[in-house]
Amino acid sequence: MAVSSEQLAIFGGPKAITRDPEDIFAWPLITAEDEQAVLEVLRSGRMSGNDVSKLFEREFADWIGSKYALTYPNGTESLRAAMWAVGTGAGDEIICPSMTYWASAAPALTLGAAVNFADIDPETLCIDPADIEHRIGPRTRAIVVVHYAGHPADMDRIMSLARAHGVAVIEDVSHAHGSLCHGRKCGTIGDVAAMSLMSGKSFPAGEGGILVTDNREIYERCIAYGFYERTGAPSIYNPVDLAITDETLRRFAGVPLGGYKHRLNQLASAMGRVQLRHYPRRISEIQAAMNRFWDLLEGTPGIRAHRPTRQSGSTMGGWYHPRGLYRAEELGGLLLERFTEALRAEGFQQCQPGANLPLHAHPVFHEADVFNMGAPTVISFGQRDVRQGQGSLPVSEGILETAFDVPWFKKDKSDVIEEYAAAFRKVAANARELGAT
Ligand SMILES: Cc1ncc(COP(=O)(O)O)c(C=O)c1O
Repeated sequence: MAVSSEQLAIFGGPKAITRDPEDIFAWPLITAEDEQAVLEVLRSGRMSGNDVSKLFEREFADWIGSKYALTYPNGTESLRAAMWAVGTGAGDEIICPSMTYWASAAPALTLGAAVNFADIDPETLCIDPADIEHRIGPRTRAIVVVHYAGHPADMDRIMSLARAHGVAVIEDVSHAHGSLCHGRKCGTIGDVAAMSLMSGKSFPAGEGGILVTDNREIYERCIAYGFYERTGAPSIYNPVDLAITDETLRRFAGVPLGGYKHRLNQLASAMGRVQLRHYPRRISEIQAAMNRFWDLLEGTPGIRAHRPTRQSGSTMGGWYHPRGLYRAEELGGLLLERFTEALRAEGFQQCQPGANLPLHAHPVFHEADVFNMGAPTVISFGQRDVRQGQGSLPVSEGILETAFDVPWFKKDKSDVIEEYAAAFRKVAANARELGAT
């Protein structure tokens, strides 16, 4: 390859990436249609209503293929509600991958539950199904599955484990709106799914979250927990709403059981409705662009695509914050930090090693006394001590040496994508000059 013999930019050679990327990285895509929809709500003054949110919920549920959907002010709240709705309470435990954003786990503490962190699979970067079963105990209520960076987790194995032990499965779909897991949409396989809709996500609604489920009991519990206007009691803004049929829950109509107010600002719902109309087309272009990039890098030593095989029927959805997998041993032990430094010099300035930092050794999950009980919340309610220190989850802990940022192309522009792929090939081909042995 001619390009591989060129001197690296880090040593003063020409940069591999020179083209103007134009709008290839622009996200979210906001058009006059979004502006019009948001303006309509703004002008009507119905920001605190729920008529637009309910339309968005119906449309989103139909698109993803679930019976019910509920919108939330953010993804974190939708996860908290999902945890409570499947029965997580004081003294219980949830199992969650350590390498994820904190919101997949931290809400459990506010329910008085402990988090038993599992390791991730080095190929999928999702929870390792082989590291789940031995963590299940009598107080385990749920397994939280994160489809990390859009990659579907191994739901077949996780669901059969969960069913065998009577444990609920909560899918955190914050990275994977539209990802397929063997032909089924992520978010429709577990008992309930919750996800972020914040602006940087592949499905953006400005700020917000959404929960989907086929389970009427979970749906009604979520309403009782945080949607006081939908419990059957009259409210200031909205007409009486009879979403709750369960008599025990209806006793509490009018005051949310969680003490939370889970209502999405309708400006975001309006934007979400417009985004949804365009989302399938937009992610199919992302899919084409990202697969083009990885196809160009097939066989490059040291780097592997983070994507399912084509024949699997699984996809990466909107490829939220995509990563590559690094194999230093194929590049003479070259440190990933040095590899990414060389890529930054070639013109991919955002290239950093790692992904989310592991959570299992974080002081919040060891020491935080959320309820002022004079003891860490993870052991305050009589549950067994599931705290784990550094050294217990090697794949998660090694993430700074094994995963790195790749460009998140939103448009399938071959000339720009080819330049980025050439930069990766150039750095890999010159590993020796960078310090590889
Ligand atoms: C995996 C994951 N779960 C949950 C969340 C929380 O969502 P939000 O920021 O909308 O509260 C995020 C993102 O922020 C996330 O990346």
